[in-house]
Amino acid sequence: MNNESPRIIVRRSGPLSGNVQVPGAKNSVLKLMAATLLAEGEFVLTNVPAIADVDTMSDLLVALGVKTKWLGPHELSLVNSGNISTEAPFENVDKIRASINVLGPLLTHYGQALINWPGGDDFGGRPIDLHISGLEKMGATIEQNLLNINAYAQELHGAEIELSFASVGATENILTAAIYAKGTTVIDNAAREPEIGDLCNMLVAMGAQIEGIGTSHLVIHGSKKGSLRGVRHAVINDRVQAATYIAAVAIAGGDVQVRGARPEHMEMVINKYTQMGVSIYPQRDGLRVTAPERLAAIDFATLPYPGIATDYKPLLVAMNSVASGVGIVTENLFPGRFRYIEELCKLGADIRIDGHHAVIKGVDHLIGTAVTAPDIRAGAALVVAGLAAHGETVIGEIHHIDRGYDDLVGRLSGLGADITRV
Ligand code: EPU
Repeated sequence: MNNESPRIIVRRSGPLSGNVQVPGAKNSVLKLMAATLLAEGEFVLTNVPAIADVDTMSDLLVALGVKTKWLGPHELSLVNSGNISTEAPFENVDKIRASINVLGPLLTHYGQALINWPGGDDFGGRPIDLHISGLEKMGATIEQNLLNINAYAQELHGAEIELSFASVGATENILTAAIYAKGTTVIDNAAREPEIGDLCNMLVAMGAQIEGIGTSHLVIHGSKKGSLRGVRHAVINDRVQAATYIAAVAIAGGDVQVRGARPEHMEMVINKYTQMGVSIYPQRDGLRVTAPERLAAIDFATLPYPGIATDYKPLLVAMNSVASGVGIVTENLFPGRFRYIEELCKLGADIRIDGHHAVIKGVDHLIGTAVTAPDIRAGAALVVAGLAAHGETVIGEIHHIDRGYDDLVGRLSGLGADITRV
């Protein structure tokens, strides 16, 4: 680890107290930003989280011809004047997975999209075959080579598309491509994540005709090309950041209000937290969280929404690592999403990986040492684990955390955690 690069230092903390505001969702705002390619005019997004991925998406959109400007710390203006390039530069696309979300809008509105294979967290293979086959069914011609994807279509047409897996990205690209397709597009087994509902709601405000919002059966009636308009839209709050603050209280102890957490978007994970002994009380504006003396181990498997999101898993594994008993965790989405376990083991966690399962035997306490954040959510989980570790936990490669967490250190220290960024 380069000693000059920023690190987060966490010491054993708790009980935590006070309140923390949940910021806007990364996995919503990035898709809303990409959707500005669908309509000319000004968009104003509010509740935008201050995260690096927003800057990366902004750079990508600027390179395509959209003008972006911060109107306030969480308010972003995006102006699409219609002068749009359909070639997405490699350096912007390579940094984040959500860059693939420009594919549907560019193709349906401007007839073409040339884009590199998207980057993002490395969880092993992350194919986009479902995006491609869906768009082909709608009449797109898509050429792929080792470097990039070239998609074009004079005009897309509606189609009936049944996804073999409820992919978030494929649902979003087919949905946005369907906006100007001729006729009606049906997406069956569509992903139902709340962030997709947020995207649908903004598209409807822009003038799109979508039925079945929030369900696995989306019906999109194509609109006349160019007929949608810019809107003002508030980004939905981030359920994964909310879950992170609940996990912090669970592991460090305390009594905290997690303001802006939406329990209706987090039912399954709240059930799991509750099974571990955490008390969670819905309030007018979020959740009140109190922790038990010691957490109880749980078993769980990740699944598409409304199941336990794979993004919650590192947090639950960190909690299990100090819980009483043994927990078995099964990863069903990204087989390679276990890289942080080695780092948790450096802190003294007792975890064995077997294929896509992890067996976690709770230990009395963790012991701080130097660890490395392998991706966004795993980085946050190491921070949370550090709250329960004796001594000092020093987390490196925190640029991963910065991609998706809006001031994690400031928010946790506001709750009384012993945490600094150096
Ligand atoms: N898949 C395919 N073919 C496809 C698309 C997906 O086989 O064409 C497979 C993937 O390989 C993977 C699974 O389906 O095994 C899930 O992929 P999905 O398309 O649902 O996920 P994604 O769009 O790549 C988004 C989030 C992830 C989150 C997953 C699952 C964004 C930018 N990313 O990824 O978030 O884990 O959904 O909920 O929205 C994060 O925020 O830290 C993060 C990784």
